Amino acid sequence: MKFEELANTRHAVRKYLATPIDSELIKKLLDVARKAPSAVNFQPFKVFVVSSNDKLEALKNCYHRDWINSAPVIIVVVAQYRMGWKRALDGKNYAEIDAAIFIDHLMLQAAEMGLGTCWVGNFDVAELNRVLELKSDEEAVGMFPIGFPADDTIPVKKRKGLDEFVVWM
Ligand SMILES: Cc1cc2nc3c(=O)[nH]c(=O)nc-3n(C[C@H](O)[C@H](O)[C@H](O)COP(=O)(O)O)c2cc1C
Repeated sequence: MKFEELANTRHAVRKYLATPIDSELIKKLLDVARKAPSAVNFQPFKVFVVSSNDKLEALKNCYHRDWINSAPVIIVVVAQYRMGWKRALDGKNYAEIDAAIFIDHLMLQAAEMGLGTCWVGNFDVAELNRVLELKSDEEAVGMFPIGFPADDTIPVKKRKGLDEFVVWM
């Protein structure tokens, strides 16, 4: 798929078929996403791929919406601040930004492969930290349920017009 078509058709998928996802597909997804750029190429993030029954159940309990229950796999992307590039002038840590770029690659590649996902940011942070035993310098940037979409409707994109956010100087 050409990039423009991918950008136009990728959308948040919130209902998945029960079909299991072959681990080779997940590996392919991650292998493409890891080509994402990061500040000084530090790649300061780690990724949990969760499909075992007990951990999947525990993760689903971190997000209180029924739709997540249909996901056969959940990926969690975690920024690692200790490994992030810090801008010299003000110390700004790029770990979360780098993780987000990786995530964007991951979501687009998932769409390219016919898989659906949805960025879930509204999770119970304390519970997720407990389930994944995150360290003090680690922060989950998002949960990403992955599955084959149960519905093939592609919603119309609602976005601001260019004149609402672009400043030409
Ligand atoms: C940082 C971020 C956090 C999000 N968190 C949630 C969430 O907690 N629950 C949810 O249903 N969708 C969540 N979304 C999905 C957005 O609602 C969705 O991407 C947006 O409405 C645009 O729709 P589209 O992805 O179909 O183009 C999140 C998206 C982003 C980028």
